[in-house]
Amino acid sequence: MCGIVGYVGKKSAQDVLINGLRRLEYRGYDSAGIATLDDDNEAHLARSVGKIAELSKVLAKDPQTGHLGIGHTRWATHGGVTEANAHPHHVGRIYLVHNGIIENYKELKEKLSNYEFASDTDTEVLAALIDSNYNDGTSLKDAVAKALKRVRGTYGIAVFSPNEPGTVIVARLGSPLIIGLGKGETLIASDASALLGYTREAIYLNDGELAVCTKDGAEVFSLSLRHLDSKPETIEGDVEQIQKGGYKHFLLKEIMEQASALHNTLSGRIDTETGKMHLGGPNLTAKELQKIHHIVIVGCGTAYYAGLLASYYMEQLVPDLTTEVVIASEYRYRSFHLPKDSVALIVSQSGETADTLACLREIKKRGTKVLGIVNVVGSTIARECDGGTYVHAGPEISVASTKAFTAQVVAMLMFGGMLAEYHGGDPKLIAEYTQELSILPREIEKVLNDHHDAIKKIAKKYAKYDDALYLGRDTAYPIALEGALKLKEISYIHAEGYASGELKHGPIALIDDHFFEVFTILDNWLFDKSCGGLHEVRARGGKTIILTNSERDIEADDIVRIKSPVKLLAPILLNTLQQLLAYYIAVERGNDVDQPRNLAKSVTVE
Ligand code: M6R
Repeated sequence: MCGIVGYVGKKSAQDVLINGLRRLEYRGYDSAGIATLDDDNEAHLARSVGKIAELSKVLAKDPQTGHLGIGHTRWATHGGVTEANAHPHHVGRIYLVHNGIIENYKELKEKLSNYEFASDTDTEVLAALIDSNYNDGTSLKDAVAKALKRVRGTYGIAVFSPNEPGTVIVARLGSPLIIGLGKGETLIASDASALLGYTREAIYLNDGELAVCTKDGAEVFSLSLRHLDSKPETIEGDVEQIQKGGYKHFLLKEIMEQASALHNTLSGRIDTETGKMHLGGPNLTAKELQKIHHIVIVGCGTAYYAGLLASYYMEQLVPDLTTEVVIASEYRYRSFHLPKDSVALIVSQSGETADTLACLREIKKRGTKVLGIVNVVGSTIARECDGGTYVHAGPEISVASTKAFTAQVVAMLMFGGMLAEYHGGDPKLIAEYTQELSILPREIEKVLNDHHDAIKKIAKKYAKYDDALYLGRDTAYPIALEGALKLKEISYIHAEGYASGELKHGPIALIDDHFFEVFTILDNWLFDKSCGGLHEVRARGGKTIILTNSERDIEADDIVRIKSPVKLLAPILLNTLQQLLAYYIAVERGNDVDQPRNLAKSVTVE
């Protein structure tokens, strides 16, 4: 979604801002802009529809020379994709970029009838509101604080005015804002990746806070302008991690680096000698772990599917555990009740997803402990949880989530393994899972390498289809849902995921020779039943692709068989092939695989 960058220091603001905006491109956007203040205190504004490359063309004709500025990538919410709606917005003496939604903007706009508005955005109204509060004798900081008190909604903002050179004001409520502290320079970003390579020291602003940024650092205040202590934290990651590293797309890189990502997820958390798993982050005592009999897992999209797969594993491991996996956008508005012996796992790659965050807060209100299963270190969800586990998959840049899924499943599985110890779980089964986890990175690498060409070939064959059905049973069912999501996101092929057993209850009516079906078939006690669905599809002309770890006879149009000692976790292995399949189909169709149309990497608005 939208991205914010800001800079005040000695370097060319234009260069730093454009570099920062490029780092945020992965979040998805449809227009971009920057505004800077030159050394004569004259402000310059440039905006354009489309990619940063378009904005760079505008700036090449009319470069900006200042050392202070703000920039933005916009993902349209209020108003169409036009230059006038792009940020920064300039009203009176104010230049503003904004992430989030001002819910009462219409009401405020009516009251600001002395202003002429050039866009359809809520952000321009906020800029006017700040300007209207910026009277003689008031500082920009006071004007911003006053204006924000009248706002309903969510915001991460960066503001400057030619009247107060050398200062950028930032504030946040429900939309992340990070201040990077450099030597003689201060950077602002809505995502830490824009700060990598400049500084490792940063202040993560909390909701309801405002900061005054100058080249010498930042001072943090509450909206009532009480001075607050702020402790800088260390930003993780490095610049290489957010580069393509020789791959054509981030998506392919992220699929292929799953082994090393998983290595980090597992590091120090499993012990094959004792056959045990341990996570330190949840910070729960033995007594607290014993008390847990119910787990609610909350997420959106891929994070939800990761939770679903993990719930199968956790229930196998922990004999007296009930799990419930919920979609955050639904759960947040339900009149839900949680038993006293519950904990919630809040699953999110970005740690910023609005619906997931809202659930976290709703669950917390009810007195239930919330644990984060989060990738982005220092993100809002990670900060608001009572504890949890970073999945350490490294930056995931491509909009479609791949390595984070694998790492999330494994992190939750380890939580289940740890819990099992305190609930009379079968030590043999726990040890078996531990053993499989220990070789999973190696096996993922092998599967991806051994079957790469076969998947590429299959992708070529099916790239022209318009419809697909993904089917699986038991632990292959969440994989079917995830496979369908991946395909539709990046290839734009209509795809649905179903439990194989549901086929006869409706979807079979769709099957004809325009459809292709991807069956994930596991070599387990449900093998024959899984193949039952396969015969029914083939009998109706559907083209079938089988992904399996079985050597038994299966009739299909295309089969990819993996050989691996990993059995319980075979769905995770087979899912990596689904990721590759979606990737190559999307490439074949000529799509923008890293930034698919209409999608944003982190959905920070409802
Ligand atoms: O950052 P999150 O894990 O909270 O994001 C949740 C979903 O928005 C995300 O998984 C989405 O479904 C991806 N585009 C899937 O590839």
